[in-house]
Amino acid sequence: MNTMASLQERRSARVATSSSQQTNPRKAHSKPSKEKRRERSSSRNWVLLFLVFISLIVVLFYSMRSRNGPLQLPTHITPFPGPKISDLSQFRGKHHEELYWGTYRSNLYLGIRARVPKSLLAGLMWISVDSSGMLAVRHTCEASDNMKRYGWLRHDGRSFGYQELLDGSMLLKTTFVKKKFSSSGYGGDWVVRIRVEDISEESSENIKTLLFYVADEAGRSLKLHPNDRQGTRLVSGTMKDAGQWTLHVKGMAKEGIHYVGYSTEHFHNITTLVSHVLQSQARRTGRLQLPDSMQSFSNLAIFQVDGKVPFEVEFVYVSDGGSDTSATEARVEQLSGLSLNNELGERETSFEKQFEQTFCLKEKGFDDRYVEAGMAALSNMLGGIGYFYGRSRIAVPSVSEGESSSQRFWHYWPSALYTAVPSRSMFPRGFLWDEGFHQLLIRRWDKKVSMEIIGNWLDLMNVDGWIPREQILGTESRSKVPEEFVLQHTSNANPPTLFLAIQDYLSTLSEESASKLGEEDRAFLERSFPRLQAWFNWFNTSQVGKLPGSYFWHGRNADTDRELNAKTLSSGLDDYPRSSHPSTDERHLDLRCWMVLATKSMLRISSLLGKDSGEYRRMAEQLANMDLLNKLHYDTVSGRYYDFGNHTEKVKLAWKVWQDPKTGYVRQELVRSVQRHPYLRLVPHFGYVSLFPFIMKLIPADSPVLRNQLDLIVDEKLLWTAYGLRSLATTSSMYMARNTEHDPPYWRGPVWININYLVLGALHRYSQEPGPYKDAASRIYTQLRDNLIRNVVESYNESGYLWEQYDNAANGRGKGAHPFTGWTSLILLVMAEQY
Ligand SMILES: *[C@@H]1O[C@H](CO)[C@@H](O)[C@H](O)[C@H]1NC(C)=O
Ligand SMILES: *[C@@H]1O[C@H](CO)[C@@H](O)[C@H](O)[C@H]1NC(C)=O
Ligand SMILES: *[C@@H]1O[C@H](CO)[C@@H](O)[C@H](O)[C@H]1NC(C)=O
Ligand SMILES: *[C@@H]1O[C@H](CO)[C@@H](O)[C@H](O)[C@H]1NC(C)=O
Repeated sequence: MNTMASLQERRSARVATSSSQQTNPRKAHSKPSKEKRRERSSSRNWVLLFLVFISLIVVLFYSMRSRNGPLQLPTHITPFPGPKISDLSQFRGKHHEELYWGTYRSNLYLGIRARVPKSLLAGLMWISVDSSGMLAVRHTCEASDNMKRYGWLRHDGRSFGYQELLDGSMLLKTTFVKKKFSSSGYGGDWVVRIRVEDISEESSENIKTLLFYVADEAGRSLKLHPNDRQGTRLVSGTMKDAGQWTLHVKGMAKEGIHYVGYSTEHFHNITTLVSHVLQSQARRTGRLQLPDSMQSFSNLAIFQVDGKVPFEVEFVYVSDGGSDTSATEARVEQLSGLSLNNELGERETSFEKQFEQTFCLKEKGFDDRYVEAGMAALSNMLGGIGYFYGRSRIAVPSVSEGESSSQRFWHYWPSALYTAVPSRSMFPRGFLWDEGFHQLLIRRWDKKVSMEIIGNWLDLMNVDGWIPREQILGTESRSKVPEEFVLQHTSNANPPTLFLAIQDYLSTLSEESASKLGEEDRAFLERSFPRLQAWFNWFNTSQVGKLPGSYFWHGRNADTDRELNAKTLSSGLDDYPRSSHPSTDERHLDLRCWMVLATKSMLRISSLLGKDSGEYRRMAEQLANMDLLNKLHYDTVSGRYYDFGNHTEKVKLAWKVWQDPKTGYVRQELVRSVQRHPYLRLVPHFGYVSLFPFIMKLIPADSPVLRNQLDLIVDEKLLWTAYGLRSLATTSSMYMARNTEHDPPYWRGPVWININYLVLGALHRYSQEPGPYKDAASRIYTQLRDNLIRNVVESYNESGYLWEQYDNAANGRGKGAHPFTGWTSLILLVMAEQY
């Protein structure tokens, strides 16, 4: 694994040098060949020196001229030229300091860091004993840990969070609170309180072990204070912004705390390190106890707390308060014990107050169980927000999707990303299309945090207007991703869902011109505009179809016979069936509708800012033209919207048995056979994609086409279930079909909350707009909403989790990744009826 990693680094370095040589042919001549070196004469030497001198000047000249230009870097990895949105003054200064510390290590059960590339890290671990007596160190969120439940029950996204984790019968309650005192240094102070209980009956005398660590990513050494027995100081160090800091322990006598210190530059595998130390200690001493030793220049310090349940311990971080130690001690007192209880009481009350003000669940008559689920949905969305730093790996254009990351790649520039994540266990990193959905919720709670996140994403744009869709930044993130998904492909899109959040945000600005906007809104829009424009153009050029007004997701694999239907990862709907034979004749309905959303948003922003909006207006009219849409995608016989492409329904996967000529072994694999010739036609898979013209509210309220859509939505043979709308009709030939031996159905049946949310939004709109189908829309709206809320909340209450998807048949049970508190958290907006 390790050698692999460094091999890849070296490979990529080679790619980088060879490409810079290509762009600068002079370099190749600056090195004299062996022949010449042998017959050196002094005059030659002078000529040579002169040549070297000249070529150096030329190289210098070009490299200065082409700082951002194509001469230096392939455009794929050249940043978009223009000031960054995250550099706006509204995101610096006080705002930056307020959001400096946070639970920004999304992939940990509890992890804290600052929003800087090289931070002080803190994290919680505990030792768990399973029923067979096996010991395990808990640290990163893993599905295989089989936690009964865990997640934030309260989190305000800024300075307060409360979480419960149930591991077997061990219940951990963790609280994170941040506070800035007048004597605090940059970023203020914080505390982590951990309470451990055992919920089983026969639990008395039970000893549980917690481990809490701090690590300086910048490699600065830490100073441990094991010997000043009196005080509460455990360890201290320095940070660039915060100056000197100290970590104190409260609620637990220092004598009982064991420790170990290491000097390391690896932070993604601290769990392994701790397991190894504990194992070797157990072998040597018979006890599971850290050795109370430290390497010189340790930048990682781990503390062990053993307590008899129930017990509580607090770790207080205090930033530089100058030399006044009594002020520091006062701050430690303020952030622990009884004062902390009071503080927590206040935080919780104000959280609940703001929650009710924002989402009005009680006012709408929801009982406590629903309100609790709603608060958990919001808290996990906010508590999952992370800060990542690193370089994406970009496939060189000849490498195709799904090939392993040991293929040639380029490094994107080093970038920071502040973002929410879909799932702390399975997907603890940024995903472009998920993020637009996340921001629908976050912006209602905290507009500024949301704007900053959107800005961070747009700052990742390259000069072509492309944004990598999955952000795997840094080794900690990379350690979680299977090889074949690491490389990002510059030809591949992802739904521009950020426009959902932007459109929503624009709708709150009633102003007609930029001069009347608030200062921060105006600055944000002005600075985002060129990037949004470039993003728009990237879609409008790279994803166009053959006919005017048509689009398709580029990058489907037309050559594979190993899949039942070639996946369309870029659409976000992975295995949702498209035409059987990918080609440039394809037209994808969902992408066309995403383009309508993008065009309308661009039209609004450009006219708001007084820019030339003529082209967006023309395009908005063209794309809203129902005749054109219907000509490209509508089946008048069935009243359904479809994709178009080279298609046959007659395909199937069958086992092919063959003998490997090299080894002589008999092998078998699933291979697709095509039993009838494909031809150009509408692709008759009815499902989420078919609903997009409805979802984007393109259909006029008085059109019979609208009635068709409503009829289709309530048809139980198609999408309707008691748990929400399923992704693909039961009548589709691909309904719940496996795509390969190893790919179970994903978007081929199960209920997904993000699309259901969009459908509800459209139903809500049509139930308000005058027209012959108003009442029908309203009835369906109420039923669909009830079904979704009931199922998601019941399943949360039973299982302790929000899920990635829900079963569309038997029982509506949660499936796939969990906790999945990305777009599934939109259930809160469904309860609040905010669309
Ligand atoms: C952690 O990973 C690094 C690099 O991948 C490796 O050198 C180191 O040995 C690992 N540490 C442990 C304890 O596995
Ligand atoms: C989008 O592309 C079409 C042609 O492919 C072009 O006519 C149109 O002007 C473009 N839209 C914008 C807003 O640039
Ligand atoms: C459809 O696909 C088949 C099989 O690949 C191919 O022979 C045929 O030419 C394609 N038709 C069109 C119109 O592209
Ligand atoms: C489920 O509901 C019961 C009864 O209201 C409650 O005691 C329990 O804590 C709930 N579970 C979760 C995970 O919210």
